[in-house]
Amino acid sequence: MTAIAIALRSVSRRHGSGDSAVTALDDVSLAFPKGTFTAVMGRSGSGKSTLLQCAAGLDRPTSGSVLLGGTELTGLSEKNLTLLRRQRIGFVFQAFNLLPSLTAEQNVALPLRLAGRRPPRAHVREVLDRVGLADRARHRPSRLSGGQQQRVALARALVTRPEVLFADEPTGALDTRTSRTVLTLLRAMADDEGRTIVMVTHDPVAASCADRVVFLVDGRVDGELTGAKADDIATRMTGPEVLPC
Ligand SMILES: Nc1ncnc2c1ncn2[C@@H]1O[C@H](COP(=O)(O)OP(=O)(O)OP(=O)(O)O)[C@@H](O)[C@H]1O
Ligand SMILES: [Mg+2]
Repeated sequence: MTAIAIALRSVSRRHGSGDSAVTALDDVSLAFPKGTFTAVMGRSGSGKSTLLQCAAGLDRPTSGSVLLGGTELTGLSEKNLTLLRRQRIGFVFQAFNLLPSLTAEQNVALPLRLAGRRPPRAHVREVLDRVGLADRARHRPSRLSGGQQQRVALARALVTRPEVLFADEPTGALDTRTSRTVLTLLRAMADDEGRTIVMVTHDPVAASCADRVVFLVDGRVDGELTGAKADDIATRMTGPEVLPC
């Protein structure tokens, strides 16, 4: 039996109260087996980022529980949750969240510094090289393109060699070719290194690189596809209606 890396059990996340209350996640139960690559899709506002942030212990569910291996995240103190995240989880934010005053390599080294580890420069450079940015190590984010910043954010999430990597639209700012490089890297992390990858995407081609695609509608799981091709995923996403242009 395959071990489960991350499990969500009846997770709901509500924001606000009364008339302005929003249910971002509504009773979501999902399991992500170790060494698998899952894509999460759904319309804007369907709860994808909230799902990732709750699963990664960056946001706390209103109800339900999240388990990383055997550890229930929902029961941990802030301090222990932070330590566990640093040691075992990588996260690529939809908005990158790079520190503007640090160079690319300093941004990538940051998680190691925060964990009290001395970042070996060769390792930091190697990770930047894996995302195709070896020649941009000394640039600050303001001197990088959107796609380059996105890849620095990915390198920063990889530098600690996390067991589980959550990536929120990690190819959203990339051209087809660079996107392929990143997807090949994510695929290899699952296949060769046994890491668990959960990736939000709007792109059926990117999603087809995953083992499984989970669809969200209004904060609820609305089915999944396993081993699907891009065309099938696109059809599932858009439904039968014809696009206006
Ligand atoms: N802090 C918050 N306060 C109130 N509502 C929120 C908050 N964060 C998210 N929401 C709401 O929760 C819902 C889900 O948001 P979420 O960011 O998870 O969507 P998403 O699927 O990632 O969308 P996108 O594809 O646009 O990134 C949305 O309706 C959003 O407005
Ligand atoms: Mg989002």
